[in-house]
Amino acid sequence: MKKAFLSITVAVTLGLASLAAHAEPTVIKFSHVVAENTPKGLMANKFKDLVAADPALKDKVTVEVFPNSQLFDDDKVMEAMLLGDVQLAAPSLSKFQKYNPQLLIYDLPFLFNNMAAVDKFQQSEDGQKLLTSMEDKGYIGLGYLHNGMKQLSANKPLKTPEDAKGLKFRIQSSDVLAAQFEQVGGVPVKKPFSEVFTLMQTKAIDGSENPWSNIYSKKFHEVQSDITESDHGVLDYMVITSAEFWNGLDEDVRAALKKDMDEAVAYGNEMSTKKDAEDKQAIIDSKRSAVYTLTAEERQKWVDVMKPVWDKFKDTIGADLIDKALKANEG
Ligand code: LMR
Repeated sequence: MKKAFLSITVAVTLGLASLAAHAEPTVIKFSHVVAENTPKGLMANKFKDLVAADPALKDKVTVEVFPNSQLFDDDKVMEAMLLGDVQLAAPSLSKFQKYNPQLLIYDLPFLFNNMAAVDKFQQSEDGQKLLTSMEDKGYIGLGYLHNGMKQLSANKPLKTPEDAKGLKFRIQSSDVLAAQFEQVGGVPVKKPFSEVFTLMQTKAIDGSENPWSNIYSKKFHEVQSDITESDHGVLDYMVITSAEFWNGLDEDVRAALKKDMDEAVAYGNEMSTKKDAEDKQAIIDSKRSAVYTLTAEERQKWVDVMKPVWDKFKDTIGADLIDKALKANEG
């Protein structure tokens, strides 16, 4: 009897040991809404490859990437993350108003002179604090990823703010962006990214604002007759994960994933500079859409009309934070 009990115990122990040895790896689903050949798409695929090649994560973690809103759009992905249906996403900074309205700072028109200033602010103490500002809502920011400055597009040339009057502009889910288009007499329409091409094609909207890589990869230049190089705002991302998922990982796994993520983000940022220039040129070369660059005087008119938006949101965002962001333009 004793002998039989012993052999059952040994068998169970061996069984458990072999189960542990063959434990299924943790699957990280990375859902995003853009094409693969964009800064975010390239970064996500790079992260997947880095994890697959990382000896510290071998047999422990695999990454699956779902581009082009295949799994979720940006609003749904936030909910899905808390439910554990997806572990990584990188929504644009315009999509976090519900979770921390201070992040609206990134939408203020004409706040940053260029991407170097955006980067400087993001890397500052205040920029870094924003990454961890949504932990009480269940999200952790693992880093910022660039796409680029936004350009205006429509089915007519937009040279002066008056040209935008009465036009319907698709915007992301941000009240600052709504106010920005209201300033020029436009009608802002909040819609998911996945619908933009069709909305343009069917003329349900007249125009939009996007960085070059989003325009090119989604062929918006084929359904908009005119693009104005306005650089009036930034479209960047926050790579986010669920606090519950991230804090529940073994420490060594978490550290290895963070290292791979930092490397993937650095790569994505390099690609953002490259794609921004390349995709702009490809759009110009395609001749599908006329690209117009505002003169300094023309651009100043847009600044004058749009800038009052800052005042409307200064209490929500914090006047101090706006001042600090402005300092990033110096030097
Ligand atoms: C948009 O909705 O226009 C962007 O946030 C899409 C993206 O992820 O670049």
